Amino acid sequence: MREMHEANRKHWDAATPKWRELDEEGWRQCPEQPSVAFEGKALDMIHEFIGNLHGKTVCVVGSGDNYSAFALACLGAVVTSIDISEQRLKVAEERADILGLDIDFVRCDAAELTPIPGAKFALVCSTNGFFVWIADLMRLYSVISRVLKPGGYYIFWDIHPFMRPWKNQRTIEMEKPYFQAGPIRCEEEGHITYKFHWTLGDIMNSLLEGGLVLRRILETSAQDPRFWQGESYGKDSDDSLLHWQNNARAGLPNWLTIVAQKPST
Ligand SMILES: C[S@@+](CC[C@H](N)C(=O)[O-])C[C@H]1O[C@@H](n2cnc3c(N)ncnc32)[C@H](O)[C@@H]1O
Repeated sequence: MREMHEANRKHWDAATPKWRELDEEGWRQCPEQPSVAFEGKALDMIHEFIGNLHGKTVCVVGSGDNYSAFALACLGAVVTSIDISEQRLKVAEERADILGLDIDFVRCDAAELTPIPGAKFALVCSTNGFFVWIADLMRLYSVISRVLKPGGYYIFWDIHPFMRPWKNQRTIEMEKPYFQAGPIRCEEEGHITYKFHWTLGDIMNSLLEGGLVLRRILETSAQDPRFWQGESYGKDSDDSLLHWQNNARAGLPNWLTIVAQKPST
């Protein structure tokens, strides 16, 4: 696991300038409009299960663009933002300063969380495009369970596993079997990365084995057509892509949102 995560870390450090440039402005909306940071009804789930976030200890793992960390901090949470990439955290820290947000940024592997004491958080969150970088889901979930307070929640939304087998085109054509989870070795801009297309069973069974209890599962469609256009930070959007008659994969669940809880005793 370590070598693959280390390779992915190098990729993310190197790719940071590109992502920074692609998203020069969007993050500024998080204070006024926290909903921009969430899809798959994940913010509704946070409100339903956590209630008022004021003063609650929250951790975002694989925080990346940090939209969700900014949004949750603006809603009053005391936020820790974890990412494996120092470069991504540096950009997020600069942006948090501009937004006037006090967030604790910690560079570490989310599947280890070594610097984080146990039973610290009322809520742990992760967002889209995170699991694909994790080589050992069971380890990830048991580590998340360790840092949650008894009764605390892990709420995530991510690409639904049913999105993974298809070619990136409007008609459905299979690119690989659903069951071929990985590691998928890729070369991205001169860096080797290792990705994982976990199945629904992989995710759910690892979550339960990791000591968490399932409270809610949502399977939803993308509401933003940029989901289909590759560049989620792009300005142009083509609404026709939201209809399965024009874009067959839109008829499948695009987001998987899970609410899981650490038992109280
Ligand atoms: C595609 S982003 C997903 C986060 C966010 N939704 C976004 O769009 O920016 C993936 C992030 O996960 C981080 N990451 C990858 N592997 C990680 C690991 N093992 N531990 C913590 N963060 C990791 C990467 O550095 C990157 O910032």
